[in-house]
Amino acid sequence: MTDLASRTIFITGSGGVLGSTYVRQMLSAGARVIASDLPGARAEALQDAHAGNDRFRFYELDVSDEAQVSEIFGHILADGWQPNVVVNNAAITGELLMGAGKPFPDFADISVTDWERTMRTNLTAPFMIARQMDRDIVGRWPCTLINVASMYALNGAHHRIYDGMPFKNFAAYGVSKAGIHGLTVWLAGYWAHRGATVNTIAPGAVFNNHSEEFQRRVGELIMLNRMASPDEIAGVMLFLCSPQAGYMTGQMVNVDGGFSAW
Ligand SMILES: NC(=O)c1ccc[n+]([C@@H]2O[C@H](COP(=O)([O-])OP(=O)(O)OC[C@H]3O[C@@H](n4cnc5c(N)ncnc54)[C@H](O)[C@@H]3O)[C@@H](O)[C@H]2O)c1
Repeated sequence: MTDLASRTIFITGSGGVLGSTYVRQMLSAGARVIASDLPGARAEALQDAHAGNDRFRFYELDVSDEAQVSEIFGHILADGWQPNVVVNNAAITGELLMGAGKPFPDFADISVTDWERTMRTNLTAPFMIARQMDRDIVGRWPCTLINVASMYALNGAHHRIYDGMPFKNFAAYGVSKAGIHGLTVWLAGYWAHRGATVNTIAPGAVFNNHSEEFQRRVGELIMLNRMASPDEIAGVMLFLCSPQAGYMTGQMVNVDGGFSAW
């Protein structure tokens, strides 16, 4: 197993499907984990799951709020922990944008408000976190930033697989995730001489109680012919957090069962 004993990891959107899996695996691998998320049921479940673990802390953080982001590392440092890994994991998905069970609009009906809300959470917020890392951490001790993209960052969506499904792939999501990798390659060169590395992880389709029909349709697009489990994405995330990834910077690592290789 990856050894993260030297790692103090700050992660956004920690209560979600992948975030909560990362937190569990990071703690098992010996890391100190500074989790954060919006207040609510996900955040509470995460805190309940790790209550009493002295290598776990939780901060409420809305990554789209510039004032909150500007203070987050100041709070963490004042509380005595020094993050050397930052994971820009929080993102808004179609369901989070529209509300669970609500029909997703066609492209022609997407509002500028929803487009800008998606960009704010998925791209501007990772920029604001990285900028704050630059102000508070980079150059003070060696550190790494991991940005989270998607298999739909550099590949177009296969719109037909969403026909008749309760969710769709929406343009702002893929566009924001392509921008994420732009942020990675820009920062990798900018920080290279200050002891900081930056990489992107691009997860594929992660199983989260999808219907058999959707699993069949998406599986046909994937070399391994199936969706991923959250633990399979977490294994690569932990490697990117580890000292063993120290010579990697500016890379996008696809963890997509071969989706992007066809
Ligand atoms: N699940 C997948 O199939 C998949 C595939 C590719 C990429 N990803 C990416 O992986 C990351 C995690 O995805 P997930 O599947 O766990 O999604 P999820 O919806 O389960 O979790 C996202 C988390 O982000 C949080 N969040 C949303 N807006 C926020 C804000 N303004 N401030 C702080 N937190 C906020 C939510 O509360 C939630 O806990 C995302 O960046 C997502 O785009 C997921």
